Amino acid sequence: MHRIRIKTPQGSSLLFMNRDAKEVTSLLPAEGIFIITDTNVRRYYSDIFPGGEVLETEPGEKTKRLETVGTLCSKLLDAGADRSSFILGFGGGVVCDIAGLVASIYMRGVRHGFVSTTLLSQVDASIGGKTGVNLGEYKNIIGTFRQPEFVLCDHRLLSTLPEEEFLSGIGEMIKHAVIRDRNLFFDISTSIERIDERDPDILAPLIERAVRIKAAVVRHDPEEKGPRRILNFGHTFGHVLETCYGIPHGLAVAEGMLVAAEMSVWTGDMPHSELKMLDGVMDKAGMMQEHELPTNIISLIARDKKSESGMINMVLLRSVGRAITRKMKLADIADFVKYYRDSNRRVNKG
Ligand code: GLY
Repeated sequence: MHRIRIKTPQGSSLLFMNRDAKEVTSLLPAEGIFIITDTNVRRYYSDIFPGGEVLETEPGEKTKRLETVGTLCSKLLDAGADRSSFILGFGGGVVCDIAGLVASIYMRGVRHGFVSTTLLSQVDASIGGKTGVNLGEYKNIIGTFRQPEFVLCDHRLLSTLPEEEFLSGIGEMIKHAVIRDRNLFFDISTSIERIDERDPDILAPLIERAVRIKAAVVRHDPEEKGPRRILNFGHTFGHVLETCYGIPHGLAVAEGMLVAAEMSVWTGDMPHSELKMLDGVMDKAGMMQEHELPTNIISLIARDKKSESGMINMVLLRSVGRAITRKMKLADIADFVKYYRDSNRRVNKG
């Protein structure tokens, strides 16, 4: 079991890697605990929940909306939660995003932490203090930055994850390697079969390395004023695919990464040989481009959070292991999308 600390001017977060979820009790106050979870997680894991009032939501992305936040705040009030209460998000990315937002606004903010139950949330969503809900078809438009006091990642909980959810987490794990750590990328690539078997001896060190990358980026720029943007690699196109096709976040990001990598070649930032290598590993990992970019993609991108005065902060690659950001005009992105759609190089290439 290893600990990683993320210290920021706004707060500090302690990440417990590969730790038994039951040990969360030792991190919690003696009373005033409110557990936010979803019906699936409760069904599987209520026997390992610590003591406290349980507030339940429906599972899935559709729950990530302001109404859910309002309902949870009302339930907290009815249940007597006050400023000394502690909110524990027990679940995957959606639960952590919502619980973090509730904790950051209920009575102007109460203490909170997470037990992270999915691979996606263990490598990404629960870490780094972003909270958020969607507004209609626009992802995470409403949210805050607030570091959880702790994130406890119990890798044994991953054994019950549906295959698609597991793959979704692998997508974000590969993203961390692709933006910052070429060696991790090669290590993931050579371990794909054992990762697929969810071999804990292989998974635990890879998850930890991916989390260390994210932690280092967040420490440097907790509120995404600049360098943290690289964590959004694959997200500009990924969010559109996720919304339009209803695919799991990490799989949409994986497809978005392939489009962004292709764009990196198109802009002349990355050699084609790197794209080929990335393609090969993503294929081996079971993550290829399967969805067409929708025709209204530019208007969707224009209302993305990464858009500023008609420019988009695109995350591109110089090579696998080295991400860069480039401010691009929507018109340039439209040119690329036309090229990409016309070349029809990926989708259904069989
Ligand atoms: N998922 C991107 C970030 O936390 O910044």
